[in-house]
Amino acid sequence: MTACTVAFDADELRRKVHDTYERVARAPASGFHFRTGAAYAVEVLGYDRQEVAALPAACTARFAGVGNPHRVAPIPAGAVVLDHACGAGMDLLLAAQAAGPAGRAIGVDMTPAMLEHAAAAAHEAGLAGRIELRQGLFEELPVADARVDVVISNGVVNLAPDKARVFAEVHRVLRPGGVLQLADVALSRELAPEARADPDLWAFCVGGALTEDALLAHVAAAGLTDARIVESVRCFEGTPLDRKFGKSLRVYAVTLYARKPE
Ligand SMILES: C[S@@+](CC[C@H](N)C(=O)[O-])C[C@H]1O[C@@H](n2cnc3c(N)ncnc32)[C@H](O)[C@@H]1O
Repeated sequence: MTACTVAFDADELRRKVHDTYERVARAPASGFHFRTGAAYAVEVLGYDRQEVAALPAACTARFAGVGNPHRVAPIPAGAVVLDHACGAGMDLLLAAQAAGPAGRAIGVDMTPAMLEHAAAAAHEAGLAGRIELRQGLFEELPVADARVDVVISNGVVNLAPDKARVFAEVHRVLRPGGVLQLADVALSRELAPEARADPDLWAFCVGGALTEDALLAHVAAAGLTDARIVESVRCFEGTPLDRKFGKSLRVYAVTLYARKPE
């Protein structure tokens, strides 16, 4: 398993990541190294066109995920769902709709500008009563132990220098039998140590991304079982990142299922 140790200041990385997503929140169509928005979600990642069209633009325009965690498994009615870095909340609103009036969707994110748009979208969609937003870190989730039925994660674990801690937090908040439905960037081979130590490559979603085997190993090391890759997705197709490494390195996304043992 790659340790993904960072040879640079983790606080500096967090500042870079925060500043990037604050820009996404303020001007989502201004062009980033990753794709954003409703058309990308539908045409590349396989979200349901009508479901996305029915959501407020406050969340869909700022969607910045890399796969569709909702295709991993259906969210049961009445479920408590946590999105551990929800951004502007598109997945969170879909989760709140799926969980129904007896369910609840909790969104955590470290970037206040993203949470403001998630709150506006929840209100506009009439879902504010089922959605709770909390500013915080996925390394220290502001959520009590064993309260969550489904953790959703989309495009964010690659940004974490300490992945063991992030998956330990997922394990802590899940109820026994609870499920992780994750989408994240994947690499076709392990990176050279110099690349792992480059903060700009981290901010590009590559420096901290894992191979499929390393991702599965991290999930298993956290105590989650039945881990499996569900889909692979060409989320960077048409972006400069797709061509940046030529044939030597493929950067794509996977969705993954795992479960906390009963
Ligand atoms: C690629 S965006 C994905 C957002 C959302 N999951 C989506 O699919 O649109 C990354 C998000 O992760 C958040 N984030 C990054 N590092 C975080 C951390 N350590 N704790 C909580 N949120 C974090 C950012 O603020 C940003 O909203």
